[in-house]
Amino acid sequence: MACLLKKFNQSDLKSILDIQKNELRPFWSEKQILDVCDDIYVLKDKSIILGFIVIKKISRDAEIHNLIIKDKYRNQGFGKVLVKLMLDKLEKSINRIYLEVAANNKPALRLYKALGFAEIGRRKAYYNEGKLRRDAITMRLEV
Ligand SMILES: CC(C)(COP(=O)(O)OP(=O)(O)OC[C@H]1O[C@@H](n2cnc3c(N)ncnc32)[C@H](O)[C@@H]1OP(=O)(O)O)[C@@H](O)C(=O)NCCC(=O)NCCS
Repeated sequence: MACLLKKFNQSDLKSILDIQKNELRPFWSEKQILDVCDDIYVLKDKSIILGFIVIKKISRDAEIHNLIIKDKYRNQGFGKVLVKLMLDKLEKSINRIYLEVAANNKPALRLYKALGFAEIGRRKAYYNEGKLRRDAITMRLEV
């Protein structure tokens, strides 16, 4: 597949909501998506949206707020492709990327570690999963 990373377009909204529909976390409503649409990039193979990332840039830092690959395309390298394409697109002025990931999210932890993100902290009981509380691991990549 020849994948491209494109800035969000209104016509991507339905696919983005659809990609999230089986997710426990994080699920973003239509309003939440539209509020941050300037910070969304979608990974496309021709007209198919495989996943998306929400990345907020603040001065010299950037923060990944959301990253999802559609469930049927997972574990085929697309998550890594998406983040790598995103890193290539970042302005030269940005030199640190931060994110928070649930401590039990093995695929995401493997993905970020493989790309060079390092654990820099832990936020206790940060995520709510029904009655369960999960720690978040804070990670940083120096670029
Ligand atoms: C996290 C996520 C984006 C990863 O995307 P992906 O396309 O499946 O990841 P890739 O195929 O590029 O694999 C990346 C790494 O994770 C590993 N991996 C992927 N799925 C895995 C699984 N189910 N169990 C264990 N490891 C897994 C791969 O082996 C690879 O590791 P390696 O580089 O050491 O070989 C995807 O699982 C997802 O959308 N999850 C739901 C939303 C989510 O949790 N987002 C993260 C928020 S912080």
